[in-house]
Amino acid sequence: MANKKILVSGIQASGKPHIGNYFGAMKQFVDLQDEHEARIFVANLHALTTVQNPEDLKQNSKDVVLDFLGIGLDPNKTTLFLQSDIPHVAELSWIFSCVTTMPYLMRAHAFKDSEAKNKEINVGVFNYPLLMSADILIHDADLVPVGKDQKQHVEIARDTAEKFNNAFGETFKLPGGLIMENMATVPGTDGQKMSKSYKNTIPLFATDEEIEKAVMSIVTDSSGGRPENVYAIHSLLKDKASLDALYEEKAGKYKDLKEALITDLKTFIGPMRERRAEWESKPEEVERIISEGGKKIRGVVHKKMIEVREKVGLIHHE
Ligand code: ADP
Ligand code: TRP
Repeated sequence: MANKKILVSGIQASGKPHIGNYFGAMKQFVDLQDEHEARIFVANLHALTTVQNPEDLKQNSKDVVLDFLGIGLDPNKTTLFLQSDIPHVAELSWIFSCVTTMPYLMRAHAFKDSEAKNKEINVGVFNYPLLMSADILIHDADLVPVGKDQKQHVEIARDTAEKFNNAFGETFKLPGGLIMENMATVPGTDGQKMSKSYKNTIPLFATDEEIEKAVMSIVTDSSGGRPENVYAIHSLLKDKASLDALYEEKAGKYKDLKEALITDLKTFIGPMRERRAEWESKPEEVERIISEGGKKIRGVVHKKMIEVREKVGLIHHE
């Protein structure tokens, strides 16, 4: 246990996950939980940059915990917790904001994108990468599995660790990223990147009816060749050889191919949906898991924060 590598990652509490989130990020948590000391959290402080309705934020946060359990994170192997149960990360994020320059953060993609859309963007969006740096560095994480579009944030965390270490002496470990290259970006039903904001998703815990509806809405070209958008999603579920054989056999028969995809999606989603429903029926147990997870992590990061305070000159009292 003691010499396992520390894996840390989080998911924002901002809506229903889709199979893009799963194959791009969440699946790795499950695949890696046996060999690592995994700590996975609900990024509810990050979600506060966009979700500003208390009931929604609470509900979304509970939903993400169920999503984690539903995909097969095992609370006996992975520590599950809420970001807000670790107030130390907000403190550390403040300290990081004092060793980071404005021009540096202004180069972050997420900030540039939101600024392009909305000039009245909040300071939380601007500081987002530093809160994420604190999430990661406070654990001395070795590995941070995230989707492709979060890669820059992990790079910012590395830079932040270096800046702090240069200013105050060796304190934080530089984390490595982890992106499964072959599954980097999952396309949606319209062929663009699958994203909550594009309404082109296949929800991860979709009902059979939702699966049917989503697949039937997949945009296909009319050139008579392979329906690329169907194939791309299908390739997440089947190995290339059997997939290519199927698409060759059913060449031009788009309806048959969509039906085959529906069947495979049902086989894949069904058991996860049932496991999630099982956890949903045991709210006290879920509550216990998440509150114990927070307690455990608070214990771990407390020592680290004493070290950080000492290094920067903040006087500490127990
Ligand atoms: P969305 O774009 O739907 O709002 P998020 O930004 O909440 O998704 O992403 C949560 C995680 O899932 C991130 O690690 C992100 O990189 C990953 N992810 C999101 N969409 C995809 C996709 N289409 N393909 C692969 N990974 C994705
Ligand atoms: N920003 C990440 C996302 O939108 C969520 C997140 C917050 C995170 N803190 C993190 C991921 C720390 C990995 C490590 O998906």
